[in-house]
Amino acid sequence: MGYSQLCRRGHELLDATLTLSVVAIVVGMTACASGLPARSEHTDKASFFRPTATIEDIMRWMVDPAADAVWDAVVTVGTVDGIKTTQPETDDDWRALRRHAITLVEATNLLLIDGRRVAGTESHSALPGIDLEPGEIELLVADDRETWTRLVHELHDAGVGVMDAVVATDVDGLLVAGDQLDLACENCHSVYWYPGYGGRPDDVP
Ligand code: HEC
Repeated sequence: MGYSQLCRRGHELLDATLTLSVVAIVVGMTACASGLPARSEHTDKASFFRPTATIEDIMRWMVDPAADAVWDAVVTVGTVDGIKTTQPETDDDWRALRRHAITLVEATNLLLIDGRRVAGTESHSALPGIDLEPGEIELLVADDRETWTRLVHELHDAGVGVMDAVVATDVDGLLVAGDQLDLACENCHSVYWYPGYGGRPDDVP
């Protein structure tokens, strides 16, 4: 008998009898009223974090600016005077990149918190028919948490690659890590944001 059935049964018995067993039932019902250990654990877990921003917010205000800083850190342009490369030079340049790298890495943990909305109710697909609506994305995420987690972890690992290159002040490494980062973004967007567009086959989540 499940615990809730037990509680319900306890109520029925209490109505029907006034024998000694009432004592046991009352004790049992007190346990029901004070909450099952399993139930209170669940409640604690559900209320422990306070997911305030949406996934869209985290993308727009944390992940995207940090990734842009990484991609813009090494730029090669052709000018009339020849090829010109801009790259991080000073301690301050590298420190700024480190700040962005840690944001990228740890934002991934925020993306794994249960109960975070994909977007606010006012948000709608910018390209209907190509971009999914937030509600549709939410269903996809809820339906297959494992794939979501795997793709978030890919972003985490790409962020760690960026961090490693930054700590080593390795410009070439930063370029390679930037490519990996781009791939991690695309791998997730092509599943949840614009599936079927730009070409990953449907059967490769
Ligand atoms: C694990 C999945 C996942 C990864 C990885 C991911 N994104 Fe997203 N991203 C989403 C989802 C889902 C949306 C759609 C949310 C919405 O706008 O409704 C989104 C939307 C966005 C948006 C649009 C936000 C807006 O204002 O509407 C930007 C910009 C963005 N992502 C940038 C990035 C960049 C840059 C990366 C890689 C560095 C990245 N994302 C990696 C899932 C992901």
